[in-house]
Amino acid sequence: MALERTFSMIKPDATRRNLTGAITKKLEEAGLAVVASKRVWMSRREAEGFYAVHKERPFFGELVESMSAGPTVVQVLQGENAIAKNREIMGATNPTQAAEGTIRKDFALSIGENSVHGSDAPETAAQEIAYWFSETEIVG
Ligand code: PPS
Repeated sequence: MALERTFSMIKPDATRRNLTGAITKKLEEAGLAVVASKRVWMSRREAEGFYAVHKERPFFGELVESMSAGPTVVQVLQGENAIAKNREIMGATNPTQAAEGTIRKDFALSIGENSVHGSDAPETAAQEIAYWFSETEIVG
């Protein structure tokens, strides 16, 4: 399979606990290369825009609040089958259901403060990468 790119975020609950390195190590050990990375403190408006697909869901306010409560590391990951591989390493959205050895099993606090985000399909990966990065910031 050809190289694929996906979008990843290390969320404020994880940056607050100094887990950026530990999480990135797991991604790199799985064969994903970090081809773009920056630390941002997203505004409420940016969080609302990024998660617009969830705007009717009951937890939307809580999600926007937690994502704008501190720094996030936004990344582009590249590798074979990167989208599926990243989701496998992340583990289930709800950490109580995450498999042993996954990022969320090891680090997540709750379904909302679940330490990482990863794109779920090629279309969303392209949209999410473009939301945070210009092409010149991605060095593969
Ligand atoms: S999934 O995988 O997209 O189907 O998961 P889903 O359950 O739809 O959750 C989507 C994102 O919303 C976050 N979430 C919550 N945040 C705060 N409070 C509650 N209760 C809550 N439930 C879900 C969840 O962490 C997902 O974030 P991302 O960044 O997309 O992983």
